[in-house]
Amino acid sequence: MPSLWVFDMKCIAPSILSSDFSALADEIARVEQAGADMIHIDVMDGHFVPNLTFGPPVIAAIRKTTKLPFDVHLMIENPGRFLDDYIDAGADMLTVHIEAEVHCHRSVDHVKKRGVKAAVALNPSTPLASIEEILGDVDAVMIMAVNPGYGGQSFIPSSLSKIRRLREMLDRTGLAARIEVDGGVKIDNIAHISAAGADLFVAGSAIFGTDDYRTTIETMRRRIDEAIV
Ligand code: DX5
Ligand code: ZN
Repeated sequence: MPSLWVFDMKCIAPSILSSDFSALADEIARVEQAGADMIHIDVMDGHFVPNLTFGPPVIAAIRKTTKLPFDVHLMIENPGRFLDDYIDAGADMLTVHIEAEVHCHRSVDHVKKRGVKAAVALNPSTPLASIEEILGDVDAVMIMAVNPGYGGQSFIPSSLSKIRRLREMLDRTGLAARIEVDGGVKIDNIAHISAAGADLFVAGSAIFGTDDYRTTIETMRRRIDEAIV
C-alpha cells in the first residue's frame, strides 16, 4: 500500500498515458521525485473509447515500483465486471464513467467496501444532473475536460462552468466529494481550473511532454496555490 495519500489537499496526478512506455518504472520514479501526489492510470478498452492501454497485470507490475497512490481511470464498458481485478492490482482510487455503468451505485458501493476510494467520471456532453443522486456516495467526481481516449487534446472551455456548477452543488449540499479534472490541464490554465473549484488535477502531456518534470509540477502547484487566495 502507498504511504502517501494527501487526498484532502489539492493534488497533482501525472497521467502516464503520455509517458515513455518503454521506461514506465523510470518515468513513474521521475514524477515521484518531482513531487507528484498520485499516479493517474488510464485504462482503455477500445470500446468505450477508441484506444487501448493498460490492464491489471501492468498495474500490478508498476505497483511495486512506487509508494504513490494509484488513481485508476476506467474508460471501459461495464466496468462493474472488472472492479476486483483493478483493486487487486493496486488501485487506491477507482473511477467509473457514469455513461458506461448502468449500476453505478452498486459499483461505487463495492469499491468503497473494498477499502478503495470511489469516483465517477462524466464525459463533456454528460450533464451534472446524471450524478446528483450519487454525489453523497462518492469520494470524487471527475469532470472530463476533453473527450476521453487520447492525451494531448485541448481543454474544452465550457468545462470551467461545469466545474463551478459542481462546486456550487457540493457547497450547497455540504457534501465532501473532491472535484477531479482530467484532460487538457496545462500550466497556462491550471489557475483558472483551480479557481473554479477543482481539487485534483490530472496532467499527462503537460508534464511528460516537458524535460524537467520537477519545474513543471512546482509551477503547477504554485499556480494552484495562487488561485486559492
Ligand atoms: C484522456 C485521459 C487523460 C489523458 C490526459 O482520455 O483520461 O487522463 O491522459 O492527457 P492530457 O493531460 O495530455 O490531456
Ligand atoms: Zn484519465
